[in-house]
Order: sequence, then structure tokens, then C-alpha cells
Amino acid sequence: MHLPTLFSTAFAVVTCVIADNPISPGFPYGSTKVRGVNLGGWLVLEPWITPSIFDNTGDSRVVDEWTYGQYVASATATSVLTNHWNTWITQSDFAAIAAAGLNHVRIPIGYWAFQVGPGEPYHTGQLPYLQKAVSWAGTYGLKVIVDLHGAPGSQNGFDNSGQRLSYPGWHSNNTNIQRTDTIIKQIASLFTGNPNVVAMISPLNEPAGFDGSAVLTPLKQFYYDSYGNVRYPNGPTESNTVLLLHDAFQPLSYWSGYQIPPNWQGVAMDTHIYQVFSNSDVAMSQAQHISTACSYGSSLSGFDLWLVVGEWSPAATDCAKYLNGRGIGARYDGSYSGSPKVGSCTGLTGAASSFSSSYKTFLRQYWEAQVIAFERGAQGWIQWDWKNENADEWSYQAGLANGWIPSPPTALKYPTICG
Ligand SMILES: *[C@@H]1O[C@H](CO)[C@@H](O)[C@H](O)[C@H]1NC(C)=O
Repeated sequence: MHLPTLFSTAFAVVTCVIADNPISPGFPYGSTKVRGVNLGGWLVLEPWITPSIFDNTGDSRVVDEWTYGQYVASATATSVLTNHWNTWITQSDFAAIAAAGLNHVRIPIGYWAFQVGPGEPYHTGQLPYLQKAVSWAGTYGLKVIVDLHGAPGSQNGFDNSGQRLSYPGWHSNNTNIQRTDTIIKQIASLFTGNPNVVAMISPLNEPAGFDGSAVLTPLKQFYYDSYGNVRYPNGPTESNTVLLLHDAFQPLSYWSGYQIPPNWQGVAMDTHIYQVFSNSDVAMSQAQHISTACSYGSSLSGFDLWLVVGEWSPAATDCAKYLNGRGIGARYDGSYSGSPKVGSCTGLTGAASSFSSSYKTFLRQYWEAQVIAFERGAQGWIQWDWKNENADEWSYQAGLANGWIPSPPTALKYPTICG
């Protein structure tokens, strides 16, 4: 059904009277598993993915893309960013991703690629690269998920939203939300005519549902409005583009019954699963990481929408430099404030050439356990990330080159690791 944005925004319309027709997605979700990688740190900077871009500023105030724009001289920033966009991901990456047997890429992009408001220090120019990426994906038969990773005001305060903040500013400001609606319409108008390549649009990455109803109430309305914007980009004709909603860090049960057929069509849920962002997570043994991974095979199953694990990683520590933010340490080695030391990070992050063979065996087992579980319990998985400068435990590319990720991804060495 179509929720006219005008009315839904004003009156929070959540009931449906007319059921939509089923759509024909560009990928057989539900019968063929999603296997993909995130092209993180390309069109949205992340300090831990390209630490050199941040270190080269010589300015410790530069902790995200906002402060990059704020504190780096404009001509320098323009040249560094343009070079980064031209070189970090190229057509040959799409060829390699397809050759590795993957079928999806998820591409994060920030709102500032579409519009920069007064007083916002962002540099723009990313959008032509997204369009090039879509054309390369088409060439190699890959499906694209366009993922709005940063919204005005920041939807989560994470540096990867563009702006690191102690409390996010998106949800409490209607101007921010309306600007995001406009950008989703713009993304839809660019790509819903090409659902065989851009099979999914994800209107907001990782909104801060952990901040409670202050976030979740406007978020649910924004998701309804996004349905209209993506499903009906040009009035009455339905698009075939799937709407992929992040779960906002809520349990799947929270979303039970939300935007389900028959009234809603072509909606999928995105959940992100990491075992590195709490003291108890990084304290787990390797065997515990693997058994926790396996447990998702049952705990994710039975959800009423297509479910994709849109971010996860074979990393079992938070040792990667700047992973928790530039200037912030790691829980694992106790350099993060308030975290007891578990062990040394030496040999657990950095270049694969420093990894022991037993560590590489663990990475392969843990990778396979997650793939098995996410294909059992969900419609598939998209690893974070394809490449980064110096944290090979996170890199799909490094995993392929160093033997802990098989090609194709179905060539498992430990197919019974989860029983
Ligand atoms: C709301 O956000 C806009 C930018 O999207 C900003 O210009 C405005 O000042 C914000 N309003 C408040 C009350 O913070």
C-alpha cells in the first residue's frame, strides 16, 4: 500500500486499507542466499579503514568526515578526497568480488553527497562514484544495496555516520528527518528504474534505537515514509526495489509484524552482528566466539521478513587501530577507558604476514561458523568490509589472499563446525 508521505508525516498513518501487489525483486531473496561485502570507508570516510588519511592531517581534532572538512584546508581536502574516491575502489574490485563468488555489494554513502546545508563543512562529489559503482556492478552481475550511512544531524553519533557525537541529533529535529526523506526520494529516483542492479535501498544505517523511544518513534514513521518513497517513487506504479530496514539494534521480536505482507511488499530487515564491541565480547575464548556464531543459526530463524546480516566480521577483537574512534584505544588490550586487559593485540591485527598459522585457522573456522549460521537462520550475509589499510582480520580481500576465506564462499573446510 502507498502511504502518501505528506499525510503520513503529519498524522503518523500506520494502518493500511489497501494491500500492495507482490513485487519482482532483482534478486531471488528467500530462495538464493545473499553473499556479499561492504565497500566501507570509500564514499564515507572511517578513521579505522583509512587511518593514513586522518594521520596525515597532523591534527588530532580530525576524527570523522565532518571534522575533516572543518579543519583541513579546503584545497588539500578536495585533492585527498578525490584521489581516495578514484583509487580506493575501482572497477577491478568489482571484478574480484564477482570472481570470488559473491553476489552483492553494499555501498555506504552520506547525505552530504546529495545536499550540504549551511554551516556543514562536508566536501561533496561522491555521487558520480556511486553511479559508476552501479554501472560496474551491472557489468559483473553484482547486486547493489545503496545504504544511507549518514543522515543530517547523525542518526547514531558514530564516526561512520560522518559526525562523532556524544548524542545523535537526527531524530529530535524534523528538519533533519525531512531532509532525509528528500534524499531517499532522490536515491529512489536515481535507482528504482534499475532494480536488477540496485536491488535494495537501505534508508538509514544503524539508527540509535538504544536511545529508546525518542529515536524509535520517529524512526518507525521515517521507515513508513521510506516505504512510500522507495515503493512509489513516481506515483501509482510500484517499484521492484526492496526496502532494507536496519533493526536499530532492537531484538527481532520488536519488529515482528512490522511492514509485512500482504499490505507491504518487498521489505527486508538488516541486522548487524559483531562480537567485539563490549568487554564481555572481547573476553570470549576462540571456542566461545565460534559457538556464539553458531547459535545465530537458530536464533535468527523464523523472522517474518527476509533477514540479511548486513554487517559482521571474522575479527574477534577490537584491536584494529581507531576501530573505536581516532584516539580511542581497544578493550582487548585494556587501552580503552574502563576495560580490563584481555591480552596483547600484537599478532591479532595489522598485516596478515604477522598472523600465526593457528590464528589464521581460527579466522577460517570463525568465518565459516558465521557463514553457516547466517545462511541457516537468515537469507544471507554481507561482510564488513572488502578492504582496509591495515586490519587484515576484517578484510575479505586479505582473507582470500591469505587462505582464511574460501573462493567460492561455499567451499567450506569445516562444514560441520556448527553441528
Ligand atoms: C535542525 O537541523 C537543521 C539542519 O538539518 C539545523 O539547521 C537546525 O538548526 C536544527 N534545529 C534545531 C532546533 O537544532
